Amino acid sequence: MSDSSTAESPEFGDSPVAGAGAEADAPRELPASHPGEAQAAPGAPRLDWSPEGPDTVFRADNMTVLPSLPDAAFTLVYLDPPFNTGRRQERRTVTAVRSDEGGSAAGFQGRSYRRIRGDLLHYDDRFDDYWEFLEPRLAEAWRLLADDGTLYLHLDYREAHYAKVLLDALFGRDSFLNEIIWAYDYGGKAKHRWPAKHDTILVYVKNPRGYHFDSTAVDREPYMAPGLVTPEKASRGKLPTDVWWHTIVATAGREKTGYPTQKPEGILRRMVQASTREGDWVLDFFAGSGTTGAVAAALGRRFVLVDSNPDAIGVMRRRFARMPSVAFR
Ligand SMILES: C[S@@+](CC[C@H](N)C(=O)[O-])C[C@H]1O[C@@H](n2cnc3c(N)ncnc32)[C@H](O)[C@@H]1O
Repeated sequence: MSDSSTAESPEFGDSPVAGAGAEADAPRELPASHPGEAQAAPGAPRLDWSPEGPDTVFRADNMTVLPSLPDAAFTLVYLDPPFNTGRRQERRTVTAVRSDEGGSAAGFQGRSYRRIRGDLLHYDDRFDDYWEFLEPRLAEAWRLLADDGTLYLHLDYREAHYAKVLLDALFGRDSFLNEIIWAYDYGGKAKHRWPAKHDTILVYVKNPRGYHFDSTAVDREPYMAPGLVTPEKASRGKLPTDVWWHTIVATAGREKTGYPTQKPEGILRRMVQASTREGDWVLDFFAGSGTTGAVAAALGRRFVLVDSNPDAIGVMRRRFARMPSVAFR
């Protein structure tokens, strides 16, 4: 069990944290932009960021900022995108993708990626739309990752399996490191099936032969059966596995910002501890309430955050109010 919030928030039982236990296949959170309707934020931000500069929060559609960031600048990219909308957009046909064998690949693995993408997306129109939104952003994430860097992509059960197959093809299967299950328990429970109470975090490294991962830097957690290990081991705790039991952000807890899709610092802390060193740069371009930045700063890492929603920027201004060095653009 991790170390952050302890109580659960009934508020989220009705209006779940993104991906956290939405029981029905109801329409979900809309992306701030969708292909064909991308909006630049009013007042375009200054796009001259460099790793010599300050921790930075951009208010913008992430696709307007990402191309300006330098290659390989970030050791960790955490993405918690808005979930699939269930909304149809004008279709870019699968056949066009399939027949584009000689053209430029949308991803990094070329022809095999295009084939897999075409075959897979054929089965689910809604995921097709979602992937159209996500794919160019994931391509940017890959470019922005340092050679020893790691991507954490936070999804729910409706998207995770399609995304896994496509990411295997995009990054290369060897680059797949883990499927982390974040399990929680709160709110209403379905009676007609097993209540869905987990999110999935897919972990990919840029270079499977040279990525940074330090399990000894991660906060340990209590053994489930401490009586089965020595008292010394029990008091030291154990390394987390790929299943993370962790409460959502507590209603009255220290962390609570009021942003509806806020994720707990405890789950971000593990990622940042394991996959970065002090001084490394961390990027989150679906930043929301700025959890990734708060954790990065607390652990001596640097951060760049992007969000297009003015409410998110307002929350981050309050969250980082005691850090005057953070630049808002
Ligand atoms: C699920 S929330 C992230 C929550 C965050 N992990 C936290 O702990 O607060 C997704 C965020 O992505 C933002 N977003 C959606 N589409 C975007 C886009 N095209 N560019 C920038 N931000 C976007 C939304 O405004 C929302 O704040």
